[in-house]
Amino acid sequence: MRKPYIAGNWKMHKTRVEARDDAADLVQQVKGVDHRVMIAPAFTSLGVVAEVVKGSNVILGAQNMAAAEEGAHTGEISPLMLKECGVETVILGHSERRHVYGETDQLINTKVKLALQHGFEVILCIGETLEEREAEQAEAVVKEQLSAGLLDVKSDQLEKVVIAYEPVWAIGTGKTATPEDADAIHKVVRDEVENLYDHKAAEQMIIQYGGSVKPKNIASLMDKENIDGALVGGASLKTETFVPIVKFK
Ligand code: 13P
Repeated sequence: MRKPYIAGNWKMHKTRVEARDDAADLVQQVKGVDHRVMIAPAFTSLGVVAEVVKGSNVILGAQNMAAAEEGAHTGEISPLMLKECGVETVILGHSERRHVYGETDQLINTKVKLALQHGFEVILCIGETLEEREAEQAEAVVKEQLSAGLLDVKSDQLEKVVIAYEPVWAIGTGKTATPEDADAIHKVVRDEVENLYDHKAAEQMIIQYGGSVKPKNIASLMDKENIDGALVGGASLKTETFVPIVKFK
């Protein structure tokens, strides 16, 4: 059985004080929830949020990580620094990193391997643009991003890997993929995991959907066989909208 996994990507929102207070509120409201719950605040808030989530069922995540442990990398953040802050999970290959900041599959793969080497759980994000979808390339794009992102990742490391399918055209736009469309791509992803590894790895892989997930659409998405969780942006910023998503049933 795959355990539901609901994650909040706070992107570049909230000051330290706001992040601390909102995280504290969340911790109170999701006590006893059996699903996996994660929040990824901005780097500057990791320390204060770590103190708040300590001992709770809320996992601390980071939104990105450098491809190196240390060195002349102005503006980057090292796995060692994230670990020291209490981070357990890193989101890698987010579409904003790919399309706004030019991250390539090769760079993302280096980060994935480094993060796993440091014992982090990795949420590897993949997803097609609107142009690619309209050109009927969605399946090919996600397969390519998946195999390139997981290149040289060993099967015994896969238990620390989560895939987030986030169609770029659905992120922050209010347009969600229909549960059927999302599930179809999740199935493609699961089949590709089987192709790259084996049946057991595919069956165990947690695949989150991301892109305009809201309290009103989470249940129908989670109903689908291949959708195991959600990576939530805008609706994760407020407990009033994130908690109902976490407690989708
Ligand atoms: P929205 O939920 O705001 O569409 O963002 C999705 C996302 O990018 C999560 O990583």
